[in-house]
Amino acid sequence: SPGWPGLIHAYADRVAVPPGAAVVTLQEGGTPLVPAGALSDRVGAEVWLKVEGANPTGSFKDRGMTVAVTHALAAGARAVICASTGNTSASAAAYAARAGLNSAVLVPQGKIASGKLAQAVAYGARILQVQGNFDDCLELARKTAAAHPEIELVNSVNPVRIEGQKTAAFEICDVLGRAPDVHCLPVGNAGNITAYWKGFTEYQRDGVVATTPRMLGFQAAGAAPLVLGHPVPNPDTIATAIRIGAPASGAQALRARDESGGLIDAVTDEQILDAYRLLATNEGVFVEPASAASVAGLLAVAADGRLFADRKTAAGPLVVVCTVTGNGLKDPDTAMLTMTDPVVVPVAAEAVAAALDLA
Ligand code: F0G
Repeated sequence: SPGWPGLIHAYADRVAVPPGAAVVTLQEGGTPLVPAGALSDRVGAEVWLKVEGANPTGSFKDRGMTVAVTHALAAGARAVICASTGNTSASAAAYAARAGLNSAVLVPQGKIASGKLAQAVAYGARILQVQGNFDDCLELARKTAAAHPEIELVNSVNPVRIEGQKTAAFEICDVLGRAPDVHCLPVGNAGNITAYWKGFTEYQRDGVVATTPRMLGFQAAGAAPLVLGHPVPNPDTIATAIRIGAPASGAQALRARDESGGLIDAVTDEQILDAYRLLATNEGVFVEPASAASVAGLLAVAADGRLFADRKTAAGPLVVVCTVTGNGLKDPDTAMLTMTDPVVVPVAAEAVAAALDLA
C-alpha cells in the first residue's frame, strides 16, 4: 500500500474540494493517538494524547491548510495570506510552496516562537512582523485579502480550514471505535474547538458513533476572553500560540461548549509549564507550551471533580482525549528556560560518572 494518503483522500466522502481540483498535500493527518499511562494514573481515567505535532509542519494547522490551499489553487489565487501566532504561518508557507503560490504572513513582532519563524523563513514566505498583537494581524490580513481578490485568506475564518481540521475528531473515533467521553484542547482563536465539535457531531449524526464528548476548552489565564466574557486588549502568556484577545470563532466555541455540556476555563502559565514538563518527562511527548494547556486543564478539572461531574454510570473508566496541538521543537527557547541546563564535562570517564552521581 502507498501508505497514509493525507486527509483529503482519507476522508474524501467528508471533506469537499472543488471538482477536479489538484490536491495540495504533504500527507498530513493520520497522527498518533498515544495512551498516556502516567496521566491516566494521575487523574483516574483512560487518557489518550492526540499528537498533532506529528503533522508535516509540526502542528494541527496542516489539516486545515491542505484544504485551504487546495481551494485557493483551484480558485486561481496567486498568493495566500494569513495572520498567525506562528503555526498557521509555518503551515501556510509550506503548503503555498508546494502549490507554487506565494505566501505572506503577518505575525506579532517578537511574540512568535523561534522555530515557527525559522519555518516561515525556510519555506520562503514574505514575513511581516507587525508592531501589534495577533488580533491586529488578523484585521490587517482580512483587509488585505478583501482589497486584493487574487490573495486568499487562509486563517480559520475561512470555513474550509474547519473542514480539514474536523478530521482529527474522525481519526480519534476511528481508532477508539467510539467517541471519547471527554475531549480537552487549548483554545486561542477558537477554530480548532469549532472543528472538533463539527467532526464529532457529524460522526454521531451519521451513526458512525453513538455519542459525542463533553468539550473542555482551555485558554491561558492572561488571554482568556471566552472565560471573562469580553475581549482582552493586551493578552499575555508564555503560550504564545494562544496569545489572542478577541477570538474570531468565539461564538462557535461557546456553542460547542454549551451543546456538548462542556466548559471553557483558564489555566495559568504555571499550570501550563507544569503540564509541559510532565508530558515531556513522564510521557515522552514534547509539545509546545500552548499544547500543554489541554493537559493542564485536564489536571485541574480532575483535581476539583469537574471531570467526573456528569458521569451517569460507572461502566468502565472515563475515556478522555487531550489534543496536543504542536511540537515542542517549535519553541526551543521555552524548553531551555524552563528545563535543567546541560552540564559541561571534560573528556574523562570519572567526570561523567561524577556528573551523573554514579559511584
Ligand atoms: N495550539 C497551538 C499550538 C496553536 O498554534 C493554536 C493556534 C492553538 C492551539 C489554538 O487553536 O486558534 O484554533 O483555537 N494557533 C494560531 C496560529 C492562532 O496562528 O498558529 P485555535
